[in-house]
Parts: sequence; structure tokens; C-alpha cells
Amino acid sequence: MSTLVIVGSQWGDEGKGKITDYLAEKADVVVRYQGGNNAGHTVEKDGIQYKLHLIPSGILYPDKICIIGNGVVLDPASLIEEINTLKSQGISVENLKISDRAHIVLPYHVRLDELEELSKGENDIGTTKRGIGPCYMDKSERIGIRACDLVDPQSFKEKLMNNVQSKNKIFTKIYDSKEMDFEKIYEEYMNYAEILKPYIVDTTSLLYDLIKKGKKVLFEGAQGTLLDIDLGTYPYVTASHPISGGVTVGAGIGPTMINDVVGVVKAYTTRVGKGPFPTELFNEEGDFLREKGHEYGTTTGRPRRCGWLDIVIVNYAVRVSGIRTFALTKLDTLTGLKKIKICTGYRYNGKIINNFPASLKDLAMCEPVYEELDGWTEDITNIKKFEDLPQNAKKYVERIEELTGINASIISVGPGREKTIIRE
Ligand code: GTP
Repeated sequence: MSTLVIVGSQWGDEGKGKITDYLAEKADVVVRYQGGNNAGHTVEKDGIQYKLHLIPSGILYPDKICIIGNGVVLDPASLIEEINTLKSQGISVENLKISDRAHIVLPYHVRLDELEELSKGENDIGTTKRGIGPCYMDKSERIGIRACDLVDPQSFKEKLMNNVQSKNKIFTKIYDSKEMDFEKIYEEYMNYAEILKPYIVDTTSLLYDLIKKGKKVLFEGAQGTLLDIDLGTYPYVTASHPISGGVTVGAGIGPTMINDVVGVVKAYTTRVGKGPFPTELFNEEGDFLREKGHEYGTTTGRPRRCGWLDIVIVNYAVRVSGIRTFALTKLDTLTGLKKIKICTGYRYNGKIINNFPASLKDLAMCEPVYEELDGWTEDITNIKKFEDLPQNAKKYVERIEELTGINASIISVGPGREKTIIRE
């Protein structure tokens, strides 16, 4: 049995797409277990960029089975567009499987997301307004519509009717907004059902059988540890569980079936949306990281907030996800900086703390304690062996390993598959 979870160790956008694509070469199956089309991976293959939102990164290999698990919320229009774009780029989607238990995003979710964010004014969460949160809310409220309902016209009709009626009350009475048309949504979604039906199966039994047969499975997390609804910087979080534990509920396998966890760590920190960010840089070093690292959202194009690597955060991720090894990405982005800082702890109320606080008020009061290392100027993007990295780049990686007690077994020095250093 060989199953591996890939998790984001910061606030998402760590480059999980590239790492999954790289590791997928040796896997048989790649599984998404949470989130929706609010996530976005950019994978580069043979110089061509592929933007993936719902489909697992393994799709770029023709022989991998790609599973969208039950923990994912699925916007059919977005998925069909992604399927069509991939097909037009010559990528086969024949091996895509969608869980019959995955919840479906409907137009009223998107509208609610927009209205809720708007009504919060300055206190908005900064969601992508794709209806992901409201879809998960319906799931918890036990009124959600799942893929198995979508392909059952009678069940879909009844559930949709009830939902449109209750949502229309919210639209008109709470938001003073117009009603949504049941017929229009029904017809639109019946067309989607026709297209998606061949892909929808019981993925939990499929996955169980594949694991029992000894197939190698990668679980691809979207977003990151600090966006986890339980363990992240609540309320500035996503509505699901990006941490490794999310695999059990989101893919329908038991914890005893997980063999290993890789934490993807970006060599610096970025964050999208609001909330405290202790190592955030507001100076030219921050601009340097944003421009050099192309730190703009895959899905929204929003500029990302940038800052130094924060070991408090990384150690927190190691703990809550049981990370055993790191994939350190974007080391090349740091090339050219004279000095590089690492945050090793926080100064809070006159004391040094190493724990990531639950309260955002406390986090906002945390001042980073830095260690400063010398940078390097040599181009590292073509380096294949750790020994060949500039001395200062090696020192930077080794210091991260010392501070976390975790080895960086994969080091990424560029977006392409070949720009990867593997350490034995
Ligand atoms: P989320 O699931 O939304 O968190 O996405 P993600 O973790 O897959 O990250 P995303 O694709 O948004 O951002 C990573 C970007 O960095 C992509 O454009 C990658 O091609 C690129 N990238 C990944 N690794 C490296 C690297 O080592 N160096 C450089 N320069 N770019 C990289």
C-alpha cells in the first residue's frame, strides 16, 4: 500500500500543482479531496501552462486515474469548461472520475456568496465569490444537492424546487434582491448532468479497491493549512479541510490507509485576502517577491501579499498534518536578494512564543523574530543536484530543516517538471 498526501503548509498557493504533477509520474491515481473551483493550480508541461481548478493535476498524464472526491464541491459549468479546455489542448479526460457524493454548486450559491460578501462591507472574508462557502453551508444544513441527485432528474427536481423556494425568500426578504428562476436552473443543470453522467461513480469503493490492489495514490490538497476551517486563521479560511486529515472524510478512506504526508512549503510566505500576516513585507522586498514570484492568483488574478518565511507557521503545519517531508518550492524566487530573513518565533507581550495563536487579535500583536541569512545571486534554475546550489542557498535550506526537524527532500527551482532537485 502506498498512499501519499500533498498538503499546503502555509496559506495556499505554495506550488502544490507543480509538486503533484511531478510526483504524479510515479502514481497510478490522483485524488482531490476538498475545496472547489476556488482553488487553482498552474502546471507547466513542455513549456505549456495548464490552469486547473477542479481536475486533479494528474490529468496531464494520459494513464492516471483522476478522482474528484466526495469532499469537493463541484460547479458543473466550471468543470465542463475545464474539461473542454483540456481537450482543446490535446489532453484526454477519459480517466476522470467524480464522486456521486460530491455536492453541487448551484447559481444561488454564487449569488449568496456575492451578496454575503457585499453585505459584510469592510469585514468581508475575501472569498472568490464562486459559491463554495454557501454550498458547504447547505451540506451542513443537510439540504445540499449531490452528484447522485444531479443524475436523477426526479430527485434533482424536488430538491432544486425546495432550495430555490427557500433561497428566493432570502434573496427578496433579506437582501432586497430579485428571485431566481427554477426552470432556467433546472434546464441548465439537466444539460450538465447529461455531459457529466459518464464520469460520476462511487469513488470510495473505486479508491478502496485501487489501494487494496497496491496502486499508488496521491491525494492532492488545495489551499493550505492556515485556510483550514478548523485549524486555520478563522474566520479568514476556506469552508473545507485542506489539512491531511481532510483526506479521510473528503475521499472516504480510513486514516490507516494513509502512508505519508508531504508538506509543500514556499521559500517565503504569501497570503490572499484579509487577516493578520506577521511576516508581511510592505517594502521593495515584498514587491520583489510578488513580481519575481508572479504572485497573482490563478483563479482571480488578485495580487498576493508577500513576506518572509515563517517557521512558526510551518511548524504548526508539520504538527496538524503530520508532515514527514517537505517539498520546498520557489527557491529560485529568492535569487538576487542580498539578505533573506526567516521568522523563528514571535514576540508577544514581551515574551518569545513559538506557537501559532488561535486568536487573530493575539496574532495581530505578534511581532516576528528574525534570523538573517546572506542571499545569493547565481541563477539556480538549471541546477539538478543539491550540492551544486550556491553555498548560501544550501545554508538557507539547511537552516529551515534545522528549525523544523523535517528534511526538504524535494526542492523546486522553477515551474517546469525538470526544475526539480531530489535529495536522497
Ligand atoms: P492552490 O491550490 O490554489 O493553493 O495552488 P498551488 O499551491 O498549486 O499554487 P499556484 O499554482 O497558485 O502557484 C504556484 C505558481 O508557482 C504556479 O504558477 C507554478 O507554475 C509556479 N511554481 C511552482 N513551483 C515553482 C518554483 O519552484 N519556482 C517558480 N519560479 N515557480 C514555481
